[in-house]
Amino acid sequence: MTSPFSISTGKKVSLTLLVIAFSVSMALAKTGPTHDKVVVCYISTWAVYRPGAGAYGIDNFDPNLCTHVVYAFAGLDITQSAIKSLDPWQDLKEDYGKGGFEHLTGFKTTHPHLKVSLAIGGWNEGSKNYSLLVADREQRARFVKQVTTFIRKYNFDGLDLDWEYPTQRGGRPQDRENFVLLTKELRDEFDNYGLLLTSAIGAAKNVIDQAYDVRQISRYLDYLHIMCYDYHGSWDKQVGYNAPLRAPEGDVLSVEFTIDYLLKLGAPPNKIVLGLPFYGRTFRTPRDGNIGDVTDGTAFQGPFTREDGFLGYNEICNILSNKTSGWTTVWDGKTSQMLARSERDVFSGLIQVVTFDNGRSIANKVKFAVEKKLAGTMVWSIDTDDFRGNCVMEEDIYADYKYLQSNGHAIMPKRINSNYPLLRTINEATTLALVEVEQSIDDNEIPHGTIEDRKNSNAAEKLLAYPITLVACAFVFLTSLAVF
Ligand SMILES: *[C@@H]1O[C@H](CO)[C@@H](O)[C@H](O)[C@H]1NC(C)=O
Ligand SMILES: *[C@@H]1O[C@H](CO)[C@@H](O)[C@H](O)[C@H]1NC(C)=O
Repeated sequence: MTSPFSISTGKKVSLTLLVIAFSVSMALAKTGPTHDKVVVCYISTWAVYRPGAGAYGIDNFDPNLCTHVVYAFAGLDITQSAIKSLDPWQDLKEDYGKGGFEHLTGFKTTHPHLKVSLAIGGWNEGSKNYSLLVADREQRARFVKQVTTFIRKYNFDGLDLDWEYPTQRGGRPQDRENFVLLTKELRDEFDNYGLLLTSAIGAAKNVIDQAYDVRQISRYLDYLHIMCYDYHGSWDKQVGYNAPLRAPEGDVLSVEFTIDYLLKLGAPPNKIVLGLPFYGRTFRTPRDGNIGDVTDGTAFQGPFTREDGFLGYNEICNILSNKTSGWTTVWDGKTSQMLARSERDVFSGLIQVVTFDNGRSIANKVKFAVEKKLAGTMVWSIDTDDFRGNCVMEEDIYADYKYLQSNGHAIMPKRINSNYPLLRTINEATTLALVEVEQSIDDNEIPHGTIEDRKNSNAAEKLLAYPITLVACAFVFLTSLAVF
C-alpha cells in the first residue's frame, strides 16, 4: 500500500535528526560582530519614504554589523497610558500593513546574536505627555504592564526610552525624580521576562544636570545610549562642529566632556554606549566657510533627508565623490571632525558648509570608547550610512592609529563589501582599537609577543566555533546511516 513517495519510519526519524542537527548548528554558528563590545544601530524607520537611492527599508538592514538594533520610533498614547504605533501601515500587519516590527525581530531567527528593541519617543514627540505619564503612579503602572505585553507580542527583546528630555521642552522639574520611578518600575516588570531596558540620553551639560539622576537611572537601565552629537548647528548662527571629540579647556560642548562628566556623576563605564552621528550639520555663510564664521542662520538640505541643517553621510559622500562638484574638505585633528565647503555661489555670494564625522572621526571615537572601557558604540542612524556602497572609499581611516601605522598596513583588514563603510569602520576599529590601546600600555612595559601571535590566537578562537558544528553534523550523519 506504500506509494513510491512515502517515507519509511526509519527515514522519518533520520530526517527529524537532520532537521535537529541543522537547527543545532545554526544556533552554534556565531553570527554578528567578532569583538565583544556592543554596536547599537538605530533605524529611523521613516527613511523608507526618502526618494530614490535614499530610501531605506527593513530589507536593507545587515544584521551582521550590529549587536543591537533599535526600531525608531513608537509613540505614547497618553489617554490610554500606552505605547502605540505611529505608522500602523509600516509597523503592523493588520489591514495588509507591511509588518515592520515583526520583519525586524524576524532577523533573530537566522542571527541569534541580535537583540532588537523598540524605541518610544524621539524629538517630534516632545516632552509634555511623558511628563504627565510619569507623574501619576497609576498611569505608570498601566503603562508598564501594557508596554511589556506590547513588546513581547512583536517579539522585541527590549524597550528604549527616547524621551527628549525630562524637565525640558515642556517638561517639569519633578520629571527628574519621576523618570527614575519609571525606570525602576519597568526594570521590576522586565526582569520577569529577561527584557532589556535602555534609554537615549542627551549630551548637553545643562540637560544632564536638570534631566537625569544619573546614579539612580544607571541602576535600572541596562545601557545608556549617549547622544553625543548636535553640539553645534545652524541655530548657533555661526559655523561649528556637529560632534567634536575634544574641545579646549572650559568648553563643555564635546564628546569627551560629556562622557567624562557622566562617569564623574556615577554612570558605570560598562553601561555607557557612545553615540556616533552618521550625519552632519549644515550652514550658509558670506565669509570663507571656516569655524566661527557668521551665518545668516539659514542652512540647506539634502536630496534624500530633505531637512534644513542636516545632511546624511550618504548625501555628503555623494557630493565629495563627485570630482566636478567643486567641494573641498578640511580635516581638524583636534576635534576629529571634517568640514566640507562648496565654491561661492555667484548669485547669493554664499558658501555652503557641512561639518560631519567621516571614517577617520568614527575610528578615533571608537578608540576613545575603548580607552574609556565603555560598553561600546551607538549609531544615529544606519539609514544615512552609504548603505548601498555608492561612494569612493576613504583611505586615511586609521591615520591616527599609531601602532597600526608603525606596523605598516599588514594587519589592516581588506573589505570585501563597499556598502555600509561607516558601520564596517566601527566593527573593524573596535577590534583594532583593542590592540592599539593594549599596545600603548605595553609600550611602557617589557614587550611580550608580537601582534601576529595575538592575531593567530584570535583566529584560532574563532575557528573553534566550527568544529563544534561539524561534530554535531557528523554525529547526526552517522546516526542516519545506522537508521537506514
Ligand atoms: C499629547 O497627547 C494629546 C492627547 O492625546 C495629543 O492630542 C497630543 O498630540 C500629544 N502630544 C504630542 C506631541 O504627541
Ligand atoms: C557632479 O557635480 C556637478 C556640479 O555640481 C553636477 O553638475 C553633476 O550633475 C554632478 N554629478 C553627479 C553624478 O551627481
